[in-house]
Amino acid sequence: MKILVLAGGLSPERDVSLSSGSLIANALMVSGHAVALADVYEGIKAGAEELPGLFLTKEDNHRYEYLIPDTVPDLEALVSKNNGRKELIGANILSLCKIADVVFIALHGSMGENGQLQAVLDCHGISYTGTGYTGCLLAMDKDITKRLLCHEGILTAPWITDDAANITPEKIIAAIGFPCVVKPISNGSSIGISFARNAEELSSALTLATEKLSSFGSKKVLVEKLIKGREFSVGILEEKALPVIEIIPKEGFYDYKNKYQQGLTTECCPAVLSEELTKKAQSLALSVHKTLHLGTYSRVDFILSGDGEFFCLEANTLPGMTPVSLLPQEAKADGISYEELCESIAKLAL
Ligand code: DAL
Ligand code: MG
Repeated sequence: MKILVLAGGLSPERDVSLSSGSLIANALMVSGHAVALADVYEGIKAGAEELPGLFLTKEDNHRYEYLIPDTVPDLEALVSKNNGRKELIGANILSLCKIADVVFIALHGSMGENGQLQAVLDCHGISYTGTGYTGCLLAMDKDITKRLLCHEGILTAPWITDDAANITPEKIIAAIGFPCVVKPISNGSSIGISFARNAEELSSALTLATEKLSSFGSKKVLVEKLIKGREFSVGILEEKALPVIEIIPKEGFYDYKNKYQQGLTTECCPAVLSEELTKKAQSLALSVHKTLHLGTYSRVDFILSGDGEFFCLEANTLPGMTPVSLLPQEAKADGISYEELCESIAKLAL
């Protein structure tokens, strides 16, 4: 197959995506496909700029590699370096999409993950990996996600959403109480998330979340009750739940740094859980996947409370595929190599 891997973009998760995309492109090439990797914001990678339309094969022996810095990229600086250019997908890349058999979306966050890109590809009749427009739209908005989960009777922490300016400590106490977790509604990789135990911490948490609001999603902030417990994640591949993984950061919570710097978090897969709880997590993940109209693959995150209930945090339509990401570890625990995982995802797009 001729596969175009789309990565990078103009999302706060740009670096994470470049790391996922590089690894995916290598894996697909190893599996014998002709592959091109495009940073949708900066153009075609790997020297193909001069030759648009070039798809590399294993014989070309190219290796893409991208290491994630431990801070979120400065998108404003990137845009100003690029003469204010903000479009996600230029004509060159769209024409490459049209000649590929499959577009492998390795973007994370904003336009690559919220359904907008998927809608454009649909309009051009281009086959792409993963979830379609509707599922992306639903899952990228944590408020919509939680409303749908409640409708299906799936537990999720009580929450409120509003403009940051309207959220007061009194409202928090009346609705959910402290401690709470403050999040931008449409971000990924924990960007802009922090915890608040009191009014003072709430104020700085709201400021942080507001600064990090995605330019391509809801402008509201979500505040949810902090559910204390163990954190788990369950990948779905082809309507089947993968082994459950437990996430144990050595310090603090599973934030951007703990997610992407090697060695800062212990991941335990399969998680040490009773068979009953394992099955419960897997069946809940599958229900969330279906409720949100997700396709091919996804990853659903949970907190297991002290009294044995799983609270769903969110679902990810484009789960990380970096060297430290969870879905590839879950697949591996199920006997599926990284190459096989990428190959299945690509084939399911046809
Ligand atoms: N948003 C990141 C990439 C994840 O869910 O893995
Ligand atoms: Mg996420």
